[in-house]
Amino acid sequence: WPEEGRGEDQRRRKGGSRRRRAARRAGSPRRDWPGEEREPQAPWAPDGLPHYPAPRQPPLPPIYAITPTYSRPVQKAELTRLANTFRQVARLHWVLVEDATRRSELVSRFVTRAGLPCTHLHIPTPRRYKRPGLPRATEQRNAGLAWLRQRHQHLPPPQPGVLFFADDDNTYSLELFEEMRTTRKVSVWPVGLVGGRWYERPVVENGKVVGWYTGWRADRPFAIDMAGFAVSLQVILSNPKAVFKRRGSQPGMQESDFLKQITTVEELEPKANNCTKVLVWHTRTEKVNLGNEPKYHLDTIKIEV
Ligand SMILES: *[C@@H]1O[C@H](CO)[C@@H](O)[C@H](O)[C@H]1NC(C)=O
Repeated sequence: WPEEGRGEDQRRRKGGSRRRRAARRAGSPRRDWPGEEREPQAPWAPDGLPHYPAPRQPPLPPIYAITPTYSRPVQKAELTRLANTFRQVARLHWVLVEDATRRSELVSRFVTRAGLPCTHLHIPTPRRYKRPGLPRATEQRNAGLAWLRQRHQHLPPPQPGVLFFADDDNTYSLELFEEMRTTRKVSVWPVGLVGGRWYERPVVENGKVVGWYTGWRADRPFAIDMAGFAVSLQVILSNPKAVFKRRGSQPGMQESDFLKQITTVEELEPKANNCTKVLVWHTRTEKVNLGNEPKYHLDTIKIEV
């Protein structure tokens, strides 16, 4: 929408100045002819050019990015990287969900200085689920979903908006947000550096998803990474029971189990040039080495890292 609007504005400006130049050459005052498209009467700017009001556009649908996060040495660095990306995306609302029994001071301080609309939630993962081999961040993603539903359920439809699960260890191209912004129900795209391959992607034929290029369990109904799809707010609201399941959900099946509840493969909307462009990468920050941290003779001041 904004591209269209801007384009039209530019055409109108050009047309207007051409007409004015022609009028000056003809030595006649500028006037509107019957049947001619009227230019808006606007105040003249100091540079002598007319100032046109910005064309009225429908507002962009907001993007809700749900990010589960947990305390670790690289947490603040990862969140900073993410904020630097998200700050450049129009109408993005960041829903940060801490795996903790209370909001941490570090994340609270971070959120107030992040420079974009943020909602800061927290919910601890029950201890029995904190085992290797079990899916992670289930409770945090569900808390984000619950917050979104609560905020919108009493408002009349249509509720424009797009939901996206943005883990804090990935790298996101700004183009990705332009792509997902037009999601009508559920949109999908490739994810780079995942599943032991350069990329995984939905296989698209004639504009429809017909299968999955993946190195791992291609038999999954939706063989896609958490970073590979977005869902419209309307779909989230009209499927109030769709959540990430603990019971019966194996690791790596979370995405598929969730998408099964809200859509079908036939309905998926391929983005990123029919799923031929990688706009998000599953980067993993290297585990930091803190082996030289002193036990005694600590620094004289305490610094948040
Ligand atoms: C995707 O493929 C469909 C069908 O082949 C085509 O009509 C459409 O233009 C393609 N979209 C893009 C963005 O290339």
